[in-house]
Formats: sequence, C-alpha cells, structure tokens
Amino acid sequence: MGICFSNQIKAESPFHTGVSSKMVSGDGTELSSNSKRSSASIPPTPRSEGEILLSSNLKSFTFSDLKAATRNFRPDSVLGEGGFGSVFKGWIDEHSLAASKPGSGMVIAVKRLNQDGWQGHREWLAEINYLGQLRHPNLVKLIGYCLEDDHRLLVYEFMPKGSMENHLFRRGSYFQPLSWSLRMKIALGAARGLAFLHSAETKVIYRDFKTSNILLDSNYNAKLSDFGLARDGPTGDKSYVSTRVMGTYGYAAPEYLSTGHLTAKSDVYTFGVVLLEILSGKKAIDKNRPTGEHNLVEWAKPYLTNKRRIFRVLDARLEGQYSLGRAVKTATLALQCLRMDARSRPSMDEVVTALEQLQESKDTSKNSQKDHRQNRHKQPNGGPKSCNADEKRTTMAYPRPSVSPLHA
Ligand SMILES: Nc1ncnc2c1ncn2[C@@H]1O[C@H](COP(=O)(O)OP(=O)(O)OP(=O)(O)O)[C@@H](O)[C@H]1O
Ligand SMILES: [Mg+2]
Repeated sequence: MGICFSNQIKAESPFHTGVSSKMVSGDGTELSSNSKRSSASIPPTPRSEGEILLSSNLKSFTFSDLKAATRNFRPDSVLGEGGFGSVFKGWIDEHSLAASKPGSGMVIAVKRLNQDGWQGHREWLAEINYLGQLRHPNLVKLIGYCLEDDHRLLVYEFMPKGSMENHLFRRGSYFQPLSWSLRMKIALGAARGLAFLHSAETKVIYRDFKTSNILLDSNYNAKLSDFGLARDGPTGDKSYVSTRVMGTYGYAAPEYLSTGHLTAKSDVYTFGVVLLEILSGKKAIDKNRPTGEHNLVEWAKPYLTNKRRIFRVLDARLEGQYSLGRAVKTATLALQCLRMDARSRPSMDEVVTALEQLQESKDTSKNSQKDHRQNRHKQPNGGPKSCNADEKRTTMAYPRPSVSPLHA
C-alpha cells in the first residue's frame, strides 16, 4: 500500500482534506463515499469507521481465523512485503470462509499491518471503504478484514501470478521476460480498472498507480489493488481535490506535486509513466542507471517521438515481437498521457480505446516488420548484451529498500 516506502513522497496526510460535502467523524476519521453501486444521482454520504465496516459486505475475520488460515503466519508463506506490511498465503473454505487445510478450499492473500500509527489504520480503512463497495473485473477482490486489538488485516482473493512489478523488473528463472502481447494485455486491463474508477458513476482517483499494485491472475488479467491513497473525485463545481502530496516518486503528475491539486488526469499521467516502464522494462526511478538516465520519463521522452531512436527506449528483450508501427503508437499514447498540460491528456476511456485498437488491429503495414529488422542493427545497446547490463542494474536494486519514509 502507499505508505512509508523509501520512495514514497509523504507518510502522513489527512485521508480526505474534504470537499464541501465531506464530514469528519468524531474520532477524526475523515471518510466519505458515494454509494458506488448506486446511481450517480444519490448524494455523497459521509461515512464513519463503524458505517464503513458495517456496510462493506465483507467478512469480518477473527485474528485466530487468519492465524489458522496462514498456519500462524509462517515465514515460508510470505507472498511479498510492502510499506503496509507482509502478505501471506492462506486457505479458507469457500462457503463457510473458515480456515481450511493448506491445499484445500480457496486460496487467499492476507495482508497484515506491521506498524503502529494512524496512517496505517487510515490506509486499512480506505481499502475497506473502496474495495468493500467497488466490484469490477480489473479490481482485486477484497474478501474480508480483521480488526481486533492492535491487529489490522485485509483478506484478498489470491492472485497466482503476483504483481506486474515482479514480472517486469525481477530477473531469474521464475520470472521470464513478459512478451509484448502480455504487456499490452496487462496495460489494457489496468487501464480499464482506472477508467472504471474515473467513470461518472464511481468518480474515484486512485493516486497510487504503479506496477506493484497491478496484480495478475493465472491468465495475466490485471487487477488493481491498494486503495489506501484513493480519494473521492471532486464534486459539484470543483474541478480538483486539494490534498497533501502523497504517492511514489517518479510517478506523480507535475501539477499535483507543485499544487496538491488532485484530478483524474493525475492518474492519467501516472499511467503514462507505467506504460513507459512496460515498454522499456525500466523502473521510473533507478539511481543505478547512468547519470542522466535516473528518471525514466525525462530520459526517454526525446527518443519516443523519433522512429529511429525509439529502440533506445524499448526493452531489448522484446526484440522481434512487435511492429515498429505499434511500438510508435504505444509510445505516442504514453507521451500523450505524460503531457505537462493536464487538460490535454486523454481520459482513461480514451486510453482504453487506443489500447484496444492496438491489440485488435492486424498490422497491415508490410514495412513494419522490415522496419524493425532494419532497426535492430541500429540499437546501440540491443540484444542480449543490453539485457545483461540491465539485469545487473536491476539486481542491484533488489531486495527492495527497507521501510524508511522519505519526506519531500
Ligand atoms: N492478492 C494477492 N495475491 C497474491 N500476491 C499478492 C496479493 N497482494 C499482494 N501480493 C504480493 O505481495 C506484495 C506486496 O504487496 P503490497 O501491496 O503490500 O506492497 P507493494 O504494493 O509491493 O508496495 P507498496 O507498499 O510500496 O505499495 C506484492 O508485490 C505481491 O507480490
Ligand atoms: Mg501494493
């Protein structure tokens, strides 16, 4: 989730700074939400912690339920670690939702908050607030939660292929490079998830779009997770939500960083950053890259508009899998999302349409493959060599840095 990672922008912020319709509950919880599955005409309803938990349609687990389901949070069942805490694999009976024997029943992922403090609790509650109401094929399914003494846990459907981050940036025999078509499929799925969040009915700004929050099912269908930083979009005649700046370095839109004004177009910018990561196989920020290349967007932008130079940016491990025409169109889409002027960025609906066309269209240009073959020889770092060089740098970036908030 979006807290306390070394590359996170800020660790503390009010959950909602509050557009006029929002209320702050007695305990300081500042949450509100439209009824996400109802019509857009229903006015926003302020929701206290109790209301969120009661109305969420989620299972309330006891701590001992989840202890049993994960075999006492066994270290060998850890699926991953994030700023929020560790994520464990577990098993429950799909009907009663009671703990079941490993290997029988339904597989779940249990995220356990491992830090004290208000921010973690807020993110835990925000996840329940949003994922307790929203259902979409491109959002991960939250099954339940646990609130007992100091324990805060979240129970999700298990996503067998883990996160997009692992597939894109980790090297090793388990993680084979993702093919061009899988990358495009995942980009489209994630874009559909964001478009749903931005839709008139839902009106949510996600704020934490990044590859570690794109989870993959067994068919590489993308599902967004981690709504800890999500916000209700502006209502009435407001065009933005005022917030303290939060998110992850390298991903946040420039106008959001400078003003704290959050709009759906901030998510579109971040989508552009991730699309660039998908095309290049490079992380948004990597201090292990040569000077001048640390920031992917700044470094890559000049190459993306040039058909001859675009190969400097494209992941060398994708060689031969795409046509130049499609690569240029995808790069152009990324550039549109990354426009400095937020209003001239496409909407997520438009991004979805563009990505759908890129997957469906048969490449009719006979020259495209030829272009690609010709340009292969022009890649300054092409082929396995650059892959190896990249591998070294990426390996140096892992394991992920330990938890230490970085204040902007
Ligand atoms: N539902 C799930 N199914 C399978 N694996 C999961 C699931 N949820 C999370 N994971 C794994 O656990 C890892 C940690 O997830 P988590 O959301 O806590 O942190 P993160 O997104 O990696 O980092 P950050 O805290 O910076 O957002 C993920 O990268 C993923 O590999
Ligand atoms: Mg995450």
